[in-house]
Amino acid sequence: MKILITGANGFLGHYLTSQLIEKRHNVIATGKGECRLPFVAKENFQYVSMDFTDPFVVHDVFAEIQPDVVVHAGAMSKPDDCEQQQWQAYVTNVEGTITMLLNAEEQKSFFIFLSTDFVFDGLTGMYKEEESRGPVNFYGKTKEEAEDAVQEYEHDWAIVRTVLVYGKPSSGRGNLLTVIKEKIEKGEEYSVFDDQVRTPTFVEDLAAGIVAIIEKRATGIYHLSGEDVLTPYEMACKTAEHLGLAQSLIKKVTAETFSQPAKRPAKTGFNIEKAKRGLGYTPTSFAEGLKKTFAG
Ligand SMILES: NC(=O)c1ccc[n+]([C@@H]2O[C@H](COP(=O)([O-])OP(=O)(O)OC[C@H]3O[C@@H](n4cnc5c(N)ncnc54)[C@H](OP(=O)(O)O)[C@@H]3O)[C@@H](O)[C@H]2O)c1
Repeated sequence: MKILITGANGFLGHYLTSQLIEKRHNVIATGKGECRLPFVAKENFQYVSMDFTDPFVVHDVFAEIQPDVVVHAGAMSKPDDCEQQQWQAYVTNVEGTITMLLNAEEQKSFFIFLSTDFVFDGLTGMYKEEESRGPVNFYGKTKEEAEDAVQEYEHDWAIVRTVLVYGKPSSGRGNLLTVIKEKIEKGEEYSVFDDQVRTPTFVEDLAAGIVAIIEKRATGIYHLSGEDVLTPYEMACKTAEHLGLAQSLIKKVTAETFSQPAKRPAKTGFNIEKAKRGLGYTPTSFAEGLKKTFAG
C-alpha cells in the first residue's frame, strides 16, 4: 500500500511518517522544499518535494506515485498567520485541498484530511463529530470549507479533527509545552489563557489514530484528542511543576485582557468515544504525555 503524506516535514508529519515506516508501509513523504526528515536511509521511505498549491506539480506527482492512500496534513496551521494573510491561507488550506482531492479522485485514493477543533464556535465544548460547526476565525473557516470539499469526494474519505497538539518537537518548531519551558528557563514571563478549555493531544497518539484509520480503512469524521480537560494556563502550570521551574512567571490572561489577531473559540475539547470504540484509540494522559515530551 502506497501512502502519500503532505506536510510531512511538519510536527504531525514527522511522527506519522515514522510510525508508518515502523509498520512496514510504503511511505511517500511530501513537503515544500527539501526533506527535513531523518528517515532517508529507510527502504520503505521516499521524499518528494511538492507544493500542493501547484496543480501541475501535484498532477505529475500523483501520475507517478499513484497513491492508494493520501493523508493531507499540510496546511497553514497557525491561526494568527491565517487571520493576517487571508489570501495565502485560502489558497493553501482550501484551494490546496481541492487540488489534492481532484488528483486523488483520478487514482481513487483513500483521502484522509486533517482538520481542527477551531471549526467549532467554542460555546459548549466537548464536541462530538456530528455537531454543527461555526468557526470564529479565518483559519477555522478555511478548514470548514476544506472539510465540505472532502465530504463531496467520490471515493473513501476520512476527516480527522484534533486539538492543541503537543509532544517532543520534531524539526525545530515548538509547541505550547516546549515554548513554556524555553520562556521560563530564560526567566521571561509567559502570558497564557485561563478562559479557554481544550483536550490537548499527544502527537504520537494522533499519529497512531491516523495509522488505525488507514489500516482499518475507517471512513467518516473522527475526533482524535486527549481526554484531560485543561485550560492552557493549567497546562503551563503542570509543565512548570513537572520541570521544577518557577510557576510565578506564568501569567493568567483572558480573551478580554489579551488580544491576538485571530479570535479563539473559548471552550473546545472533544468527545472521543467514536475513536475509542471504532479505532481502539487509547490516548495518553496529559501527565504521561508531559513525561514523554521532556524525556531524554
Ligand atoms: N498542531 C496543532 O495543534 C493542530 C491542531 C488542530 C489541527 N491541526 C492540523 O493538523 C495538521 C498538521 O498540523 P502540524 O502541527 O503538523 O502543522 P505544521 O507543523 O505547521 O505542519 C504543516 C506542514 O504543512 C506544510 N505546508 C504548508 N503549505 C504547504 C504547501 N503549499 N505545500 C506543501 N507543504 C506545505 C508546512 O511546510 P513548511 O514546514 O515547509 O512550512 C508544514 O511542514 C494541519 O492540517 C493542522 O491544521 C494541528
